[in-house]
Amino acid sequence: MARPVVLCTRKFPPAVEARLARDYDARLDVDDRVIDGSELLKLAEGCDALMIASSTKLTAQAIGALPKSVKIAASFAVGYEHVDVAAAKKRGLIVTNTPEVLTDATAEIAMLCILGAARRAWEAEHMVRTGNWKGWATTQLLGVGLNGKRLGIYGMGRIGQGVAKRARGFDMTIHYCNRTRLSPDLELGATYHARIDDMLPHCDVLSINAPASPETHHFLNAERIARMPDGAIVVNTARGTLVDDTALISALRSGKVRAAGLDVFENEPNLNKEYLTVENAFLLPHIGSATVETRDAMGFRCLDNLDAYFAGREPPHRVA
Ligand code: DGY
Repeated sequence: MARPVVLCTRKFPPAVEARLARDYDARLDVDDRVIDGSELLKLAEGCDALMIASSTKLTAQAIGALPKSVKIAASFAVGYEHVDVAAAKKRGLIVTNTPEVLTDATAEIAMLCILGAARRAWEAEHMVRTGNWKGWATTQLLGVGLNGKRLGIYGMGRIGQGVAKRARGFDMTIHYCNRTRLSPDLELGATYHARIDDMLPHCDVLSINAPASPETHHFLNAERIARMPDGAIVVNTARGTLVDDTALISALRSGKVRAAGLDVFENEPNLNKEYLTVENAFLLPHIGSATVETRDAMGFRCLDNLDAYFAGREPPHRVA
């Protein structure tokens, strides 16, 4: 029997591509080009499935124009704002994501961002690499410690809880804002705020861990920043669209926000260039899930979903 044809719109880790090639008629993206738009529609001709990443936008228009043969799109990401879920449901296109497997890696990057911002990691590294380090000094590159500071987590899903778990190890006090309050065994003494405006005054450090949605778009704007304590730290490892960049850059310049640690940006990779001019921003290129273990696990999760679908079972991580 002919094997299902799977179009890959990005290059995937070697172990994932090996399993793809073993079990499917896999059209691999050997050059790792971002396959999207009209090229996607053309290459999808005759395919049964897509394996995509967040760089491939499945808009309502794209979904409507996909060849009828394409029945399922396995997305290599936990966030799925690049897919018009309503349009997928209407068209009968099954869409799956990769929850759980990137929780630890992303929570680790959130800690890196918190530490990088609090301890001025970029400025320090830059000083060494540019030969500008003239020696140890008592007031050189002073940051702030985390011990006893209040960490406010906006979005207390799996990743938010992973950040809380790690931050407790740094003796931080945890506050969180989430649509629903966690049960005591998950809350572990953290202070719940039903409204973000109520939590912000308690955030020495704010960690953004909520998904992108129309409701969260630019939630961190000038008014909200004004509610934070002076000299607070802002960390974003979720999605860039949650932050109003102009407001955050202005607050970084004024010192209202002491420092930011950002792994995600609006309009990636074309981030607001002003970020490059503020020394108190610690900037990473969306590496939250970038560990060998996690990227393999994300790919295998995509394949588990495809395997289930083609075996006539319900894909375990279906979002549409
Ligand atoms: C995710 O899985 O959502 C990561 O941020 C990669 O897009």
